[in-house]
Amino acid sequence: MTRTIYYVASTLDGFIADQQHSLDWLIKQDIDQHGAMNYNEFIAGVGAVLMGAATYEWLRRHQTEWPYTQPSWVFTHRDLTGVDGADIRFTSAPVVEVHAEAVEAANGQDVWVVGGGDLAGQFADAGLLDEIVVSYAPVTLGAGAPLLPRRLDLRLRETARNEAFVAARYDVLATGDRGR
Ligand SMILES: NC(=O)c1ccc[n+]([C@@H]2O[C@H](COP(=O)([O-])OP(=O)(O)OC[C@H]3O[C@@H](n4cnc5c(N)ncnc54)[C@H](OP(=O)(O)O)[C@@H]3O)[C@@H](O)[C@H]2O)c1
Repeated sequence: MTRTIYYVASTLDGFIADQQHSLDWLIKQDIDQHGAMNYNEFIAGVGAVLMGAATYEWLRRHQTEWPYTQPSWVFTHRDLTGVDGADIRFTSAPVVEVHAEAVEAANGQDVWVVGGGDLAGQFADAGLLDEIVVSYAPVTLGAGAPLLPRRLDLRLRETARNEAFVAARYDVLATGDRGR
């Protein structure tokens, strides 16, 4: 069954990028590509990708090729330019509508909410976020793009160390599950 997962790396103090949208603090960390909760294992189970405009723009600035073969939706109110040969759909439609399209396209695989944090929060607000996987880097920034600026209850399902990172997997609890 399709799960909607926010898989992300964060600082210890809950930021996913610095105030200039830099990920230098993240890229310099040691990680085992075959280790616990690694990206390759995760992306193999993903059938559709969702992200906000700032995340898309970061990818365009830093990656020579579009990294995803999956259909990808980019939330924006602007007229952004796509990538030749890539299935990228720019949208400002309600998250519930886009989510339904993404689930259908994923065809039983998972839907990945890449970020940012508020977009993941919009899916949580709509009751559509099932799981959060966070790899915490050993760094604090004091300010930046927030991990998940919402008040949510989560259930910790798994923890592991991957080199410099502490990785944690959480279920997002529906309102009715809280306190159980
Ligand atoms: N550490 C990690 O693992 C990780 C993961 C993902 C991202 N990042 C980084 O974190 C930063 C995230 O930036 P961010 O917090 O600004 O978030 P973002 O979600 O990437 O971008 C925010 C923008 O997305 C658009 N947007 C969001 N919700 C929308 C909606 N419902 N409808 C239409 N458009 C919508 C708006 O763009 P418009 O201005 O076009 O309206 C908004 O300004 C980036 O630097 C990214 O590279 C890090």
